[in-house]
Amino acid sequence: MRLSAPVRITVIYLIFGGLWISLSDQVVAWLVVDPESITWLQTVKGWGYILLTTLLLHQLVRQDFTRIEAANQSLEASYDATLRGWARALDLRDRSTEQHTARVAELTVELAQSMGLREPALTHIRRGALLHDIGKMGIPDSILLKPGPLDAEEWAIMREHPGHANEMLAPIDFLKPSLEIPYCHHEKWNGTGYPRGLEREAIPLSARIFAVVDVWDALTSSRPYRGAWPAERALGYLRSQAGQHFDPGVVRAFEALLARRGGATSVANHSE
Ligand SMILES: [Fe+2]
Repeated sequence: MRLSAPVRITVIYLIFGGLWISLSDQVVAWLVVDPESITWLQTVKGWGYILLTTLLLHQLVRQDFTRIEAANQSLEASYDATLRGWARALDLRDRSTEQHTARVAELTVELAQSMGLREPALTHIRRGALLHDIGKMGIPDSILLKPGPLDAEEWAIMREHPGHANEMLAPIDFLKPSLEIPYCHHEKWNGTGYPRGLEREAIPLSARIFAVVDVWDALTSSRPYRGAWPAERALGYLRSQAGQHFDPGVVRAFEALLARRGGATSVANHSE
């Protein structure tokens, strides 16, 4: 039977304290006999007790913290594996391009990092990017998988997917900080996006970053109805939409990231 951490620490502390009390006086009596020396040695013994029990408690608590941290990491890994499963399920359902979700999540985190964002924000961004279209789970197949163009009514239903994401994820505590991208990835810098028509900095930064990466990935991937755009053409489109669809600062940061990666083509080398 394994004792719980508080019980184990208490038992070890009691055993140590009991042994100390029963043995230390015998040691003092064996070492010295005159009353003055006994008083002095009792004081040293008292400080020794405090020091040793402090070290003992420190060690025991540290061991348990390490164990708890390992358990948390394993739990986080399970959460992330589950999220990747959800993302994959959605990719399969709407038949979006292979690995699109994983790829945009990776590039979104890289761009966010290049703009100075750090942990834990990057973890929330990664999760949000993986789940960006999770709200499409609430869109009927007849609209999501429709081969032809959508009519006005169907578009209205399709535009509900960020709201569905909000309803799905908001009650999940550990995903609340990751909600910005699923809820706001279709907002536009000039306020013409949806679902809330947010403008400029009112759109969360993570969603502004994601929007650039998502469109870039769509343009530089081949589709059944068109080939992949060359990197320069896609970049030209992003530039033309800076201040319209996109945050101009994010577009500039993205260009700088591409330049550092040795030219746009090294990012746009996928097609499926
Ligand atoms: Fe979307």
